[in-house]
Formats: sequence, structure tokens, C-alpha cells
Amino acid sequence: MQLPQIHSITKKMLVACVGAFLLLFLLFHMTANLFILRHDDGAWYSAFCHFMGTNWVVKIFEVILLGVVALHILLTLWLVVTNRLARPTRYQQRQRSKTHPGSKLMMWTGILIFAFLVMHFCQFYFVKIGWVKGEYMVEVEKLQTEEVNTLMQYSVQNQMTPADVVAGIESQMAMYADQLSEEEQAEIEANIASLRDAVPVADLIAQGQFSQDRKWIRHLDYSQRQMLKQTMPKCGVEPDFYYMCRELFHNPLMVILYLIAFVALFFHLRHAFPSAFQTLGLNNYKYNTAIEICGQAYTWLITLGFAAVPILVYLGL
Ligand code: HEM
Repeated sequence: MQLPQIHSITKKMLVACVGAFLLLFLLFHMTANLFILRHDDGAWYSAFCHFMGTNWVVKIFEVILLGVVALHILLTLWLVVTNRLARPTRYQQRQRSKTHPGSKLMMWTGILIFAFLVMHFCQFYFVKIGWVKGEYMVEVEKLQTEEVNTLMQYSVQNQMTPADVVAGIESQMAMYADQLSEEEQAEIEANIASLRDAVPVADLIAQGQFSQDRKWIRHLDYSQRQMLKQTMPKCGVEPDFYYMCRELFHNPLMVILYLIAFVALFFHLRHAFPSAFQTLGLNNYKYNTAIEICGQAYTWLITLGFAAVPILVYLGL
């Protein structure tokens, strides 16, 4: 097999650079996840996800991030394959090297993390891009068009459902139709049609599960999301990640799977942190101890920070 020829150290440097980017992303992601632990009905976490989902700078960053994740995996595979091709026969005697045990585990922990990411993306990211169904939420303010507000007002005043309000207007229109000119009839029919279109949205608000601050309607299902996308394409319905995370970690199997992934992540990071410094030539004997300590601190912080969410949510704390 012929692979493009790039010096092994160049590939290692690329792996280290993209790895360093991922180290920063993990710190950011772990910190943001801690908002899930707040008992504020998702006010902070939903606001954060809303910002992440709507800000165009973040959207560009997200594309770069996904590219970097893919690049990290491809480069590592490429390194392994070219190293194997360079030495088709294994060493006769297995060397008792002084390498950190984590370095030998890198491939296996990497595979585990990759499997975790496939599951993780199916649970969250693919919901955001619409490939998988989830739970959704929408800002109440974005639903309050003139028609919706009129319907809501009538239905509250007359204690009727929004659909009954429209049916009532329609029957009145039928009664007085012969007294109206053709233009007046056309105008009233157009108004009734726009009120009729607003019925599902008014129903949603009437039955909606509001957040504590009544800013969001939450726990919408996929069919409600589709209805909103069709009737109000600009309303910005988005995944309810706070609720979805909390639901997910009520399932003990999911808690265990996530914790297994975090153990793999721990061993992967323990080696990755000092290794990235070494490959980029940023280490020297004076700073080695400091890099080792920072690496250990970073690895524990990330692992415990991530693990806190499933454990504490499961325990109801
Ligand atoms: C308790 C642990 C975790 C929770 C609750 C969690 C939650 C989430 C959520 C809700 C999203 C979608 C956010 C959005 O797109 O706006 C997401 C995306 C993502 N997660 Fe996690 N995550 C966890 C751990 C991890 C770990 C350990 C990794 C990496 C090894 C990871 C990598 C990613 C990536 C690459 C994305 C897509 C990029 C993004 O949308 O930010 N996550 N995660």
C-alpha cells in the first residue's frame, strides 16, 4: 500500500497540534457541562446552549472542531499504519521500554473514546442537526405573533380552545356572509385562514410546559418541532439539552457507559498532555516536572469534572 510520504515527525507534530486544540475544547466542554448540575430548570445551561447554537462564530468553531477531531483520528491511524509498514516483521524480543503505560494504551483508549463519541453524537449532536429525534424547546417570545396573541386573548376571555375560537368566527362569518361584499368576504376569509394556521402554535402555548421563568416552552417532541418548523420557520426551536442530559443520566446503564468512557479518557489524556509538549519541543528538563504536574492536574480535573455530571444527576443531587 502506498501512502503519501510525509516525515513521521511532521505527522507527530500535527497530531500534537490538533491534540492540544482538543485539550482546550475538553476543558471548555467540561466547564459548561457543570451548569447541568444547577437546579435552575436549565436556565444557565439552556442559555449557554442557545448561545452556542445561534452564534455564527461558534458555528464556524464547531465545524473546525469536528474537522480537528476527524483529522486527529486520521493522522493517528496514518502514523500507526506507516509505522507498521516501515517494520512489517515485529521485534523478536519485546523491549522492556520505560515508556509510560498510557502510551501503549493510547490506541485502545482512542478506540473506546471513538466508540463513545459515536454514541454521544447520536444522543446530542445529531439531534441538533436534525438526524436523530430528541426533546426540544422554544422561546415563548418567538411564538407570539399578532395572530397567536389574538387567538390566545379570545380563548382566555371566552374560556374556549383556540380551535373553538376559530370555529366560532367561521360560523359567524357564514351567518353574515350574504351581507358582505366580495372584497370584504375575501379579506375576512384571509384573516380567518391566518388565525387557523396559528391554532397549533396557540395550542402549544396553552398546554405548554413552561420553564420556571416562563421564557421557554420545554419538552416538545419531534412532531411538535416539525409543526413549528413548518408554521414558523424562524422561531428557532432547538434541542432541550438540559432536559435530555438529565433524562439520560437517570438510566444506570448510560451512567456506567459514560463512566467507562471517562476512564478511557483519563488514560488517554494522562499520556497525551506531556506527549504533546514533548513532540512540539516545548519541554526541557527544567520544566518537565511542572509539565508532569500540570498534566496530572488537568487529567484529574477533566475526568472528575465530566464524571460529576452523570453521578450527581443519577443520585438526584
Ligand atoms: C457528562 C459528560 C458529557 C455531557 C453531559 C456532554 C453533553 C454534550 C451536549 C449536550 C452536546 C451538544 C451541545 C451542542 O451541540 O450545543 C455535546 C456535544 C459534544 N460533545 Fe459532549 N458531553 C459530555 C462529555 C463529552 C466528552 C468526554 C467528549 C469528548 C471525549 C465530548 C465531546 C463532544 C463533542 C466533540 C461535541 C460536538 C461539538 C459541540 O457541539 O460542542 N463530550 N456534548
